[in-house]
Parts: sequence; structure tokens; C-alpha cells
Amino acid sequence: MTNEFLPAGGIVCEPSTRPEAVEADALVVFLTEGSLSGSAVDVDAATGGLLARLLASGDLSGRRNECIPLLAVPGLRASQLVVVGMGKRESIDAGVVYRAAATAARHLAAKARGRVAFLADGGWTTKQVEQAVAGAAVGMVGQDLYRSEPKRIRFGTTIWLAAPVEAVEHGAIIADGVNLARRLVNMSPDHLYPQSFADECATIAGRTGLDIEIWDEDRLARERCQAILAVGRGSSRAPRLVMLRYRGAGRTGQARQPASEPPQLALVGKGVTFDSGGLSLKPSEGMMTMKCDMSGAAAVLAAAATIAALRLPIDIVVGIGLVENMTGPAAYKLGDVITARSGTTIEVHNTDAEGRVVLADVLDVIRGEKPRRIVDLATLTGACVVALGQDVAGLFANDQPCCDAVAEAARAMGERVWQLPMDAEYDEQITSEVADIKNVGDGRWGGAITAAKFLERFVGGIPWTHVDIAGPAFSEKPRPWTDGGATGSMVRPLVELARNGG
Ligand code: BES
Ligand code: MN
Ligand code: ZN
Repeated sequence: MTNEFLPAGGIVCEPSTRPEAVEADALVVFLTEGSLSGSAVDVDAATGGLLARLLASGDLSGRRNECIPLLAVPGLRASQLVVVGMGKRESIDAGVVYRAAATAARHLAAKARGRVAFLADGGWTTKQVEQAVAGAAVGMVGQDLYRSEPKRIRFGTTIWLAAPVEAVEHGAIIADGVNLARRLVNMSPDHLYPQSFADECATIAGRTGLDIEIWDEDRLARERCQAILAVGRGSSRAPRLVMLRYRGAGRTGQARQPASEPPQLALVGKGVTFDSGGLSLKPSEGMMTMKCDMSGAAAVLAAAATIAALRLPIDIVVGIGLVENMTGPAAYKLGDVITARSGTTIEVHNTDAEGRVVLADVLDVIRGEKPRRIVDLATLTGACVVALGQDVAGLFANDQPCCDAVAEAARAMGERVWQLPMDAEYDEQITSEVADIKNVGDGRWGGAITAAKFLERFVGGIPWTHVDIAGPAFSEKPRPWTDGGATGSMVRPLVELARNGG
């Protein structure tokens, strides 16, 4: 079922092979809008000017994610030629090629295919080749975990032509990361709960060489993580906290940091394996997709595993808070006052604002590691989806350079983010009459910001960025480049952030 971070193979490079000589079930070529360029010129020549004729007749345009299969093309040994559009040459970036490759792969994966060859575009940078390879390997995987007849079937072998070997290897690893996050989010919440998520972490840590620590309920109590424990009390599945560590600093020449040196980057993930809302119960429509409420946790696990598999020269620490938010007899209640690990007291006004309560303790644990920067990922608020829509993640920060680094990494990967304000005035909304703070703002306006303001209380002034992925983490509808369900949002940007040094 899964081949994440196993030496699975399945993706090979044939740098010298001419496209017309490739024996495959399909050959994929990338086309720019307007005129023939890059590797499409070679395919056009090999096919006696076929692409130029179809462009002239308007049967091909090269528009973004246009995907046109041409069968039995004279001059090619491949059984079919798939032409996929990338849009205008000047607007091509790593995100564009990732989605174009995924579009072609998704189309072809509707049937079993033995060998599928992709022809890298001669105009691509190494990073763009890498993201095309990743996109192709993500696009052929759907949300078929529990279907007797899968809608997508992975190719037997993917062949990359005219692509540097290292870019193909890296692209395949990055795809493993994205597909890992997607698989975990797509799993049934009856199978993925705090302990089984922690087990998944242990498996992946073992494969990629991450150090792992799993805190069970006894350890959480000894560590005074009363906020995590409170949210978990309504469930028969006890909460867990997972810490992952990777030490890669000093890999490329620089002196290895002594073991006591704090990590450059900390990643924190919200892992609510199911969010019923608790006693502030969600209506059925709102609850339907709430297995996705551990997308932040899945993204930081997947990013850490990818960073380790790529052996990036950075030290990172990861904290994941795993809880099921349910309504059992011991469930936390409205009016409860919780003393979080930091000593801050929290008055509960709404048990459905549980993510921030869980993250309060995880952030406090991570703060103790003294990282240079903290980035947390959470499907935190519906208000963020109201503000920015389903395709854009919200950014909130106490430090502009940290926020800019996250935004730049997302931009480089073609994932949309937008920063929202964090003015001090919003703090007044989370003051409580009976405790230090309450877990919701006054009324619903600015709900994404008041949630971020709550988190800010627990980072102790360390440069920090909160990424609200409630919109982009999960897609109810399919897109040209992906079936619906988990998207793997922010995995590639986090890897890019680590590549840029954190
Ligand atoms: N997990 C939800 C947020 C969410 C909404 C994620 C839609 C993905 C899609 C979160 O725990 C939640 O319920 N937030 C509440 C907060 C409110 C009670 C202050 C919300 O957004 O309604
Ligand atoms: Mn909730
Ligand atoms: Zn939630």
C-alpha cells in the first residue's frame, strides 16, 4: 500500500535517450502557450511537425493544465503522446511544473500503465525538474485507501528523459513526503487516532533516521500538559505528544554543531485526529471532513522525514500534539479553567476551539528547546477560510523576517499564502474575567487572528510564524492535478524553508 521513504524504485532516469526512441505506454511532453519551445521542439521534429500543426489549428493551446492525449503518433515508439500545457513561458515556476506534471500523471493513472516516460523541458531549472518529478509521483496517487476498485493506479515505472539524476532522486523523495501527508489525512479517523498516528511517526522515523520520543498520558501528566489532557478527556483514545529530532547541520563542510547547540528550526503541528467540536458539538456538515484536523501534524511529520531523507544540513525539532476531540463523559466543559504547562490559565468558552488549547502545551514544550525560529501548522479556524478562501493559507507572526522566510518558501513552491495583521488591539479580545485568557475572541469577527493571538502567548518571544491551513489542507472537489481529499499542503514549502537554512 505505502512506499513512503522505502527504497522502492519505480522512477528511473534515461538522460541520453531520444524521445522518439523511448518504448513506453505513454510519452508526456510539456508545452508552453503561444509557441513551440523547449523539448516540445524535438517531439515536433520527430513527429513531422504534428505539434506545430495542432497549435496552428487550435486543437492544442499549451494553456495551463490542458492535457491532450494523442494516440498512435507516427514517428514515436511510445503508444501515445500526452501533451500537457504550462501556460506562458515567462510565468513558469516550480509550482506550475509541479501541477502540470501532476495533471498528466493523474490522467494517465486512470488505467494501469507499465511504463510512462516524461520528457523534461530543456528550459527548466534543476529545481523545476525536481518539482515536475514530484508532481508526477503525487498526481498518480488518488484517495483510494479504502476503494475496492482504485481510481488511480501507480505506474509500474516512471522514466524521466533529459533530467539530471540528482533532481529526479530528490523529486521522488519530495513526492514521498507529500504522499505521506496525504495518506495520513485521508485515513479513516477510526484507524488514525493519537496512538496509531504516533505509531506512524515511529515507522517513518525508523525509515528516515529521525530521533523520536512519544509521550503517553502518564508522561503528559508528569510534564504538566494539562491543556492537551483536557481536550483529550472526552475520548476513549488518550492523547499523545510526539517529538522528532533531526541533526544534519555540518553535513556540507561547516563544522558540526555540538550536541547542546539549539536547533535552527522548530516545526509544530496540530494533530486533532478527529474534531467533533466536543460539547460545543459541530453540525453534521461541519463535522464531515474533520478527519482532516491533523493536517498540520501530518505536514510537519512529512516535512521532517523529507528533510532527513534529503540529508539537508540543518538541525530541526518537531512537536506534534495528538488528540481526539470528543464528547465522552469526562469531556472538558464550558467554564472549565485549565492551567497550561506554561502556567497560563485558560477559561474554556467553546470546546470547538480546541486546536489552540492543544498547541498551547506543544509550543511550551518546543520553547524549552530554544529553537532559533518556530513555525506551526494548524487547521485552526473556519474564519481563516472565510477570509482567504480554500486555496490560500493564512500567515500570522511575531517576527517579520521569520514570516517572510515562510512566505518566500511557499511562493517558490507555488503554494498561496497571505499574511494577516497581529495588532496588539486583538489581545483584548481574549482576556477573561476569571482566568488569564479565554479560548475564543469576542464574537466571531477576526476569528483567525484572535486564535493566532492566543498561540502567541505560548511562544515566549521566539521568532514564530503560525500557518492556518484550514482552507488548503483538504479539497472536497477534484482539480486537474489532484483527486479530492488531502492535498499535502505546505510540505514542499517547509522543505524549501529548511533548504534555505530555516
Ligand atoms: N478544526 C476547526 C477549524 C476548521 C474549520 C478546519 C474548517 C478545517 C475546516 C477548529 O477546531 C474549529 O472548530 N474552530 C472554530 C473556532 C471557533 C469555535 C472559535 C471555528 O473555526 O469555527
Ligand atoms: Mn474545533
Ligand atoms: Zn479543530
